[in-house]
Amino acid sequence: MPSTLPDRAIEADGLVKVFGTNRAVDGVDLRVDTGTVYGVLGPNGAGKTTTISMLATLLRPDGGNARIFGHDVVGEPHTVRQLIGVTGQYASVDEKVSGIENMIVFGRLLGLSHRAAKLKGRELLEAFGLAEAAKRPVGKYSGGMRRRLDLASSLIAHPPLIFLDEPTTGLDPRTRGQMWDVIRGLVAGGSTVLLTTQYLDEADQLADRIAVIDRGRVVAEGTADELKSSVGTAALQLRLADTAQTAVALTVIEQVLGVSATATPEAARITAPMGDPDRVTDLLLALRERGIPLAEVSVTKPTLDEVFLTITGHATDDAASAEHETEEVAA
Ligand SMILES: Nc1ncnc2c1ncn2[C@@H]1O[C@H](COP(=O)(O)OP(=O)(O)OP(=O)(O)O)[C@@H](O)[C@H]1O
Ligand SMILES: [Mg+2]
Repeated sequence: MPSTLPDRAIEADGLVKVFGTNRAVDGVDLRVDTGTVYGVLGPNGAGKTTTISMLATLLRPDGGNARIFGHDVVGEPHTVRQLIGVTGQYASVDEKVSGIENMIVFGRLLGLSHRAAKLKGRELLEAFGLAEAAKRPVGKYSGGMRRRLDLASSLIAHPPLIFLDEPTTGLDPRTRGQMWDVIRGLVAGGSTVLLTTQYLDEADQLADRIAVIDRGRVVAEGTADELKSSVGTAALQLRLADTAQTAVALTVIEQVLGVSATATPEAARITAPMGDPDRVTDLLLALRERGIPLAEVSVTKPTLDEVFLTITGHATDDAASAEHETEEVAA
């Protein structure tokens, strides 16, 4: 790894990618400092993979520009590729190939000799707890093993910047924890990591800074603490017995809690950020005084859904269904 890298690992300005009439990435700016973990958080179809693909030179932007350690992704793709490792949703490995053969193929692709690739491959499989499975066909690996192999193969060239596209989606909690340790280890070893995730807790655990993206745009950016305080330390969820009372209920919530509450379009669910969960007692009394019966009430720590609902005014599943409509049109 070069010892002197610029302070900025990623600098993207106004990135755009259009598929037909769908602006999948619609003007994304990103600043990622060298030596940090940066989280890109967003629901299905938000544009995470498309954004990474442009930064990793796998897709050409339709607008805007981006530099990796100062090198333009369009103008200097070969230099950029030598500085990055990419792993995630686009990786596909031959099912019949063994773990170690897979490592050798990747190493050879990156210009290592067969011998060097095998040595480095063995070392990485060992480090990722895959030494025993090294000779087994990749098709027989579990989801967690596949993910670790994927990550191991992207590290064979020891790139200074690593893109991880949803590294833990679909993994069980224990395997997720192991992946998190691996990622922390990479950063401790001097790498910069950009990871995408659908999980607020994952970004919270790992990322120094987070960009929340929705429908191709960055809708919020900051540290995990900054994002959480923007949605309160807890989230209040209410369902009214009578949705006709939604407007009155919103007013009462705003008066009592001093925050603005959001109702889903069909008014089935009201969400409000709460600084102090203790205030919920005052609110419940006020609602009863006004004759507004509740069907359901809960106070939870903010989830990605609440972050979304609060920041964008729509639920994450709206974005997912919007994506499905687009897919159907495209099919
Ligand atoms: N090759 C493609 N051709 C056409 N449309 C595409 C293509 N790739 C992505 N899209 C569309 O672009 C939008 C963003 O997709 P993208 O894969 O970047 O989302 P994502 O945030 O990675 O979602 P997920 O969490 O499901 O991986 C979606 O509407 C998707 O259907
Ligand atoms: Mg994706």
